[in-house]
Amino acid sequence: MIISIVVAASDDNAIGRDNQLLWKLPNDMKFFKNLTWGMPILMGRKTFESIGSKALPGRLNIVLTRQAEAIQQTKDIVIADNIEKAIVLASAAHYKELFVIGGSDLYRQMMPTANKIYLTRVHTFYPDADSFIDQIDQNSFRLIVSENFPSDDRHAFSYSFETWERKH
Ligand SMILES: NC(=O)c1ccc[n+]([C@@H]2O[C@H](COP(=O)([O-])OP(=O)(O)OC[C@H]3O[C@@H](n4cnc5c(N)ncnc54)[C@H](OP(=O)(O)O)[C@@H]3O)[C@@H](O)[C@H]2O)c1
Repeated sequence: MIISIVVAASDDNAIGRDNQLLWKLPNDMKFFKNLTWGMPILMGRKTFESIGSKALPGRLNIVLTRQAEAIQQTKDIVIADNIEKAIVLASAAHYKELFVIGGSDLYRQMMPTANKIYLTRVHTFYPDADSFIDQIDQNSFRLIVSENFPSDDRHAFSYSFETWERKH
């Protein structure tokens, strides 16, 4: 199964503060929804809380936590207490791709094994953020897609949709 990271990060690799995102970019939300629709998404317990402790619709939501009692499982929300179990859950349901959607704890653990990274690079700096991703290792990943979009009345910052693929 393909394991893909999906993340939006500023030019200094910031992704969040106070367990919230740093920006509102409708086109990125649309990109994220189209990419992950109908697919399994894997997130850490803090990211799950940051989206209101409810399932993102139309997707199998797999939440990683070491405290099983913290989250109510439903038909759309399953919990796993380690990454291997999360991958087994997704592959047992015959999905071809698993999307890792955050947060920084999970990105850090998954970066060494991920096959692909969908990075929305938001062209600003957030030195006072409290969540960051590691710089993409260009010895391990190659950039295969990069599309740039300017800021406009709905997007405070310019941004780029980048796809990175693991080198073989
Ligand atoms: N910009 C973006 O694209 C983006 C996307 C998503 C999130 N974010 C931001 O990222 C921040 C949250 O990131 P975070 O690093 O604080 O938290 P996180 O990665 O969302 O969640 C961490 C929690 O996940 C569980 N966990 C992690 N690894 C595990 C493992 N191997 N096995 C079992 N459980 C595991 C643990 O939960 P327990 O403590 O319950 O055991 C851990 O405390 C927020 O600011 C959020 O807004 C940004």
